[in-house]
Amino acid sequence: MPNRLEIQNLRKNYGSFTALDSVSVILEQGVTGLLGANGAGKSTLMKLMTDHMKRTEGHILYNGTEVLEMGAKWRSLIGYTPQLQGLYEDSSARQFLYYMASLKGLRRRQAKEQTARLLQLVNLEAAAHRKIGTFSGGMRQRVLLAAALLGDPQVLILDEPTAGLDPEERIRLRNHIADIARERIVLLATHVVSDIECVANSVMLLKAGKLLAHESPQKLIASAQGKIGMFYGGYEEIRVLQNQYPKGEVKQNQQGFALRIAADPLPEGCVPAQDVGLEDVYRLYLEGDHA
Ligand SMILES: Nc1ncnc2c1ncn2[C@@H]1O[C@H](COP(=O)(O)OP(=O)(O)OP(=O)(O)O)[C@@H](O)[C@H]1O
Ligand SMILES: [Mg+2]
Repeated sequence: MPNRLEIQNLRKNYGSFTALDSVSVILEQGVTGLLGANGAGKSTLMKLMTDHMKRTEGHILYNGTEVLEMGAKWRSLIGYTPQLQGLYEDSSARQFLYYMASLKGLRRRQAKEQTARLLQLVNLEAAAHRKIGTFSGGMRQRVLLAAALLGDPQVLILDEPTAGLDPEERIRLRNHIADIARERIVLLATHVVSDIECVANSVMLLKAGKLLAHESPQKLIASAQGKIGMFYGGYEEIRVLQNQYPKGEVKQNQQGFALRIAADPLPEGCVPAQDVGLEDVYRLYLEGDHA
């Protein structure tokens, strides 16, 4: 069965402000990372995709059909974890999942089976009876992920699922997401590059409502080669250069201090970096001093 989501010229205006500006993109199976700084329009895009908000213009087609025409069918095909979501503090994880399953229209038996399977998937079996009010941030995010997976959705839309998690919990959640992504379209919004570094097949770069690129991580990294450089020098020299490149990152290694700069062209005296990564891509295109 095909699994293809096509977004065409999608626009969202809030009054006279354009939060999303003619975004066109095709999403296929696997994880697509949606990278952008605060206010870039990530949540806006996700709310439009999940029909939680009215678009100003554009189309969203799932396997060729406009999702607005699919109505309830579309909602049954998607799983969504909104960025800010109230949880039912007094319910247990299991009760919450039963409740969400009923909202999704699952039968009792399906709800029971899937809840058991999903609690296992997100490592919450042992805590299934505990009130959500007693959960850590990571446990809450895992409950939300499980809830989004009820009904076996073909499209998963995750808005900053790792927000507020410590590094260990981030990795755990990321692994869960990688596990479930194989046969689904997964769109994962974040401004934390490491969240998608190991799991994303492709990355969308969103800046001020505009889609700058949708490419494989490898291609994005290749495009940043020669635009990321290290300036080695004394502390004072680096301070001076840092005034020009305030987003440059000061590093310290065996040779002393260095400033890692993302700029096109690189300033004189800068040695092009050989170890360019997705973090540099983010810095160059989304927050660089000359982006
Ligand atoms: N309901 C609204 N009314 C007016 N402006 C809004 C509304 N919702 C969002 N915006 C504006 O639209 C822009 C995009 O917001 P959005 O929440 O989509 O960004 P985001 O990429 O999800 O940011 P964050 O990383 O902070 O979650 C921002 O400038 C925001 O202030
Ligand atoms: Mg957001």
